[in-house]
Amino acid sequence: HKKLDNFPEGFLWGSASAAYQVEGAWDTDGKGKSIWDDFVRIPGKTFMGTNGDVAVDHYNRYKEDVALMAEMGLKAYRFSIAWARIFPEGTGKICQEGLDFYNNLIDELIKHDIEPIVTVYHWDLPQALQDLYGGWENRQIIEDFNNYCITLFENFGDRVKYWVSLNEQNIFIGLGYLRAMHPPGVTDYKRMYEANHIASLANAKAIKSFRKIVPDGKIGPSFALNPGYPATCNPEDVLAFEDEEELNAHWWMDVYVWGEYPIAGMKFLKEKGWAPTVLEGDTELLKEGKPDFMGVNYYRTGTFEKNPLDGVGIGGFNTTGKKGTTQEEGVPGAYKTKRNEYLETTNWDWEIDPTGLRIGMRRITSRYKLPILISENGLGEFDKLEEGNIINDDYRIDYIEKHLRACKEAITDGVDLIGYCTWSFTDLLSWLNGYQKRYGFVYVDRDEQDEKEMARYKKKSFYWYKDVIMNNGKDI
Ligand code: BG6
Repeated sequence: HKKLDNFPEGFLWGSASAAYQVEGAWDTDGKGKSIWDDFVRIPGKTFMGTNGDVAVDHYNRYKEDVALMAEMGLKAYRFSIAWARIFPEGTGKICQEGLDFYNNLIDELIKHDIEPIVTVYHWDLPQALQDLYGGWENRQIIEDFNNYCITLFENFGDRVKYWVSLNEQNIFIGLGYLRAMHPPGVTDYKRMYEANHIASLANAKAIKSFRKIVPDGKIGPSFALNPGYPATCNPEDVLAFEDEEELNAHWWMDVYVWGEYPIAGMKFLKEKGWAPTVLEGDTELLKEGKPDFMGVNYYRTGTFEKNPLDGVGIGGFNTTGKKGTTQEEGVPGAYKTKRNEYLETTNWDWEIDPTGLRIGMRRITSRYKLPILISENGLGEFDKLEEGNIINDDYRIDYIEKHLRACKEAITDGVDLIGYCTWSFTDLLSWLNGYQKRYGFVYVDRDEQDEKEMARYKKKSFYWYKDVIMNNGKDI
C-alpha cells in the first residue's frame, strides 16, 4: 500500500440535510407554501403518497438533534433554508419567525462548536413565484433570488462563513423540466435548458452579492457529480462518454467556474434546437459569479456507450426500491447508459463506486483547480430497528469508510478537499422514496403510515463516525 496523506487540520467533518426533508412544520409560524408542498399532493408522485408536512419534526426538535451532533463531535452541519419561511410569497414581506428559527439553529450549532454550512436553495421554491411567473423559467427570478440571498447574507453572514448556493442545479432542473419527476413536472428539452440558464444567472448574481456582504466567507454550488466511464475502449464508446461529460458535467461546471458553455455541447444543443437564449450581458454576469469551491454531492457513477440518432431517449427511473428495473436511456446521437459489470449496486440500484469519487474529484481538480467540499455522500438503505433500539448498520459503515478512503487517496493525489458531509445526520424524508430509504447516523422511529413518537436512536455508524472524527480520519 502506498502511504497516504492525512486529512488536513481543520477538516470539516460534517453531515447534511435539507429543510423540506427534515423540518416539517410546513405551514407553521407564517411559512408560505413551496412547490413541493403542492407537488407531493398529486397522486402517484411519491412513494405511498408521503410528504414533508411533518418530516422528522426537526423544526421543533432542533435542539435535541444538535445535542446529538455535539455528542458525536460533528465539526460541521450543512442544512438548507426554506425560502418560503423567510419570504412566504417569495418576495416582499419578510417573515420574522422564519428568521428567528434559523438564527436559533445557527446559534445552537455555534454554541456546540459546530460550523454551520448553509444551503440557500435546496429545491423548495416558493409556490407563489411558480404561480406568479413560472419560477425558474422567468428572468424575474434572478432579482427575487438575489434579494432572498442578500437577506440571508445580511442576517446570518456574521456567523455563517460557508455557504452553498444552489443544491444540485443539474438534478432539480433535469428532474423538474425533463423527467417530470420533480415540480413543475415538465418534459421539454428546450424549456429545461432555458430554465437552467436562468438558474445559472441567478447563481452568479447571488455569488456576486455575497462578495460584498460576506467578504470573509466562502461560497459555491453543490453539483450532483456522476462521473462517467466509456463502456468499452471502442473509440465510438469513448466519444459517447465524452459527449456525456460535455452535456452533463461540463455543461454546469464550466459555467460555474468560467462563465462559458462547453463548445461541442453548445454546438450539439443548437443543432437539436435546445440551446438556451444567451442575452447580451449574460456571459459577463456568469463570469463574475466564480465560486470559492466546488460542492460535490456524490452517490454513483455512470457508464456510457454509443447511441445512434434513432436510438433510445430519456426513460423511466426506478423509484420503487426494486432492483433491476432501471431502463437503458440516453440522448439520441450522443450516448446511452450501460450497466457496469464491475460494480455492485444498492437496493435502489445505484452503483457503489468509491474509486469513482476519487476519479471525479481528480477531474474537477485538473480542469478547474478549485478546492472541493463534499457536500453529500452516503448510503440509502432499509435499516432494521432491533430489540433494545439498536441498529446494526455495518453496510453503511463499510460504504462511508470506503468513500473516505477514496478521499484520502484523492488528497494524496493533490485534491484540495476541505470537508466531507455525509448524507444525512438523522434519517429523513427521501423526496420520492418516503421514509424507508434511510441515510442517517441517527434512526428516526417513524414510517410512511405512522409518525409514532419520532424517537431518535443512535445507529452503530454513529459511534463509528464519532471515532473517525476524533482521530481526524487517521485510521481510514
Ligand atoms: C441528493 C439530494 O440528490 O440526493 C438530497 O440533494 C437527496 O436531497 C439525496 O435526499 C438522496 O436521494 P434519495 O433519492 O435517495 O433521497
